[in-house]
Amino acid sequence: MFINFWYPAEESHNISATPLKVQMLGLQFVLWRDEDGNAHCVSNICTHRGGSLGDGKVVDNCVQCPYHGWLFNGDGQCERIPSLGPIDKIPKRSRIDAYPVEERYGLVFVFLGDLPEEERPTIMPIEEYGTDGWRTLTMRYRWKANYVRLVENQSDPSHVEYVHSGMGMGGQNADYKVPKFRIDETQWGAGTMTEFQTPGSPDEEMGKVITRGPSDAGSGFHGISMTWTRINFNENDGMNMYIYACPRDELDLEIFLVNQRNCRLDPELDKNFLSRMGVAVEEDRIVVEKLEPAIPSKDTIGEFIVPADDVLMVYRQRLQEYQERGWRMDLAKMQRNEHRIAYAIPSPARRADPNDWAVTPVPTIGQ
Ligand code: FES
Ligand SMILES: [Fe+2]
Repeated sequence: MFINFWYPAEESHNISATPLKVQMLGLQFVLWRDEDGNAHCVSNICTHRGGSLGDGKVVDNCVQCPYHGWLFNGDGQCERIPSLGPIDKIPKRSRIDAYPVEERYGLVFVFLGDLPEEERPTIMPIEEYGTDGWRTLTMRYRWKANYVRLVENQSDPSHVEYVHSGMGMGGQNADYKVPKFRIDETQWGAGTMTEFQTPGSPDEEMGKVITRGPSDAGSGFHGISMTWTRINFNENDGMNMYIYACPRDELDLEIFLVNQRNCRLDPELDKNFLSRMGVAVEEDRIVVEKLEPAIPSKDTIGEFIVPADDVLMVYRQRLQEYQERGWRMDLAKMQRNEHRIAYAIPSPARRADPNDWAVTPVPTIGQ
């Protein structure tokens, strides 16, 4: 797993003035919303003696540790140490890591890392979100899978024919092959569009836009755990699916799926789209959760790669580059120290001022 990316922590509407403890990258964080409506995210570990802040409450827009009542604000600064009584200056070393938060597309994204703003990878954009003529549906799923396997699956044009009953011909066409495709690379991702044969839809309403025959579709990845899929049913009608995934842990994946469509906009038809989505996601889950090894790595052996896998090869290459930048967590070391060392992901404030932090930063590979 990697630091220095944006991860979707929760849906915006679930963040309130009650602390919400969430797990990301195997570590605990706490989220809450202050009186001005701003969402905050800090490391869950209290610098005093390791209390779980997310089990406390929000007092004066700060999160209050349930153990001895220390108060931490959204910037991670400790504002009150009750046992010391009224004091002029709170010692700097009491601070905790606080992370940049952005709310977009109905989700709360947290930047889990210490890069300054201008160097951070971006959140995958949804250009059409909130614009006229587009309708949004948001779903969430939980898979027992590694995020790399999800991203590889979503970046793989050749599984569609065999995995998805609503797209592809189930291998019935003797002439089936994945056409040669061109990969479009961006600063933080890559993807491709190709032509698929669609069997149409047995659903009467969906069948009005999803007709039998060729449709233009494609997919790709962005950053570490975000993917996009576009399906153009015909020249005018289409549906785009954006996945923002959060590795709660190596084999515990929370998937937030934002579906955009520019056809059949009647809210009454949402259930038809939801059911089509649900079927497709389940078809993927059944295959992906059983892949071996469950956690691929650059040492993965026993694979024979073909040109249809080229987009996910770009993804793997990018992972290697992120590792070389020192962004891959040293999970083996963390596991050896489990229950003995409490870790926090270093925040931008820690990089700007590296001294006087109590909690140990997560080790990364190559450091
Ligand atoms: S452990 Fe948090 S206030 Fe003591
Ligand atoms: Fe799929």
